[in-house]
Amino acid sequence: MGKKVTVVGAGFYGSTTAQRLAEYDIFETVVLTDIIEGKPQGIALDLGQSRAIEGFETKIVGVSTGPNGEGYEAIADSDVVVITAGLPRKPGMSRMDLLGVNAKIVRQVSQNIAKYAPDAVIIVVSNPLDEMTALTQIATGFPKQRVIGQAGVLDTARFTTFVADALGVPVRSVKTMTLGSHGETMVPVPSQCTVDGKPLAELMSAEKIDELVTRTRNGGAEIVGLLKTGSAYYAPSAAAARMAKAVAEDAGEVMPVCTWVSGEYGCSGVYLGVQAEIGAEGVRRVVETPLTAAESAALREAAEAVRSKQADVFDL
Ligand code: LAC
Repeated sequence: MGKKVTVVGAGFYGSTTAQRLAEYDIFETVVLTDIIEGKPQGIALDLGQSRAIEGFETKIVGVSTGPNGEGYEAIADSDVVVITAGLPRKPGMSRMDLLGVNAKIVRQVSQNIAKYAPDAVIIVVSNPLDEMTALTQIATGFPKQRVIGQAGVLDTARFTTFVADALGVPVRSVKTMTLGSHGETMVPVPSQCTVDGKPLAELMSAEKIDELVTRTRNGGAEIVGLLKTGSAYYAPSAAAARMAKAVAEDAGEVMPVCTWVSGEYGCSGVYLGVQAEIGAEGVRRVVETPLTAAESAALREAAEAVRSKQADVFDL
């Protein structure tokens, strides 16, 4: 049987994720769901009609869903489910301002996924990311490695872009790393960043690196401030789709993701942004890399900040 992926939420993030997944042409079916009647069906029809032009065969199915599982039978046998449901930020809001409203939405969606696609790997992108990932694991009761949050692939892509643009080099020459949370305690790791294999610190002043680190940490807010009516979705959907592809292909690719840590970097019992090997079962293992003392301390600080919010997220 061919692979099946479901994207929950047909907003800009969800619909662009569905488009990217369909265009990979590696899935038999992409299911796009939304609580709005007609929207996922309309997008599925439109996207499906692009197949003859773009040259892919993936079937796209749009489904409206209800709070008590209505419509969810369409997601049965999904190998991967991407949760984009919830509200995006408006200018001036932090991701944490979405905690209460998105917790209710994500909890309900998660419970329905657990019922109708009990073997799926879930990729969470709803904000605040680290807390919504933890909530999804609790609400589904899935093994922790089968619930992964998307943040690091996006944050790293932003950092890479800023470095490439600042130095006037191709993005493919640049390797960057960000760990920690998808928020205030994001930990970009300049010591592990290279340009054509050369350490970033040899090519850029410490002040300039700091400036790009700060811009990366505020990368989402910068775009919210420009769009005014919502948050970023082109780079975020590219990140989520790549993760879903790595799961579907059992790729073993090492990516920065939000996953459960058990002692890595001295952090335990919390969902945190670290590098991990991704395959058909979700996270195969966390991959540790050497950090400077300051980067390690920042990562442990991020773990504590996330832990304090994750503790009571299920009861919101
Ligand atoms: C961002 C949102 C999607 O970082 O979290 O753009």
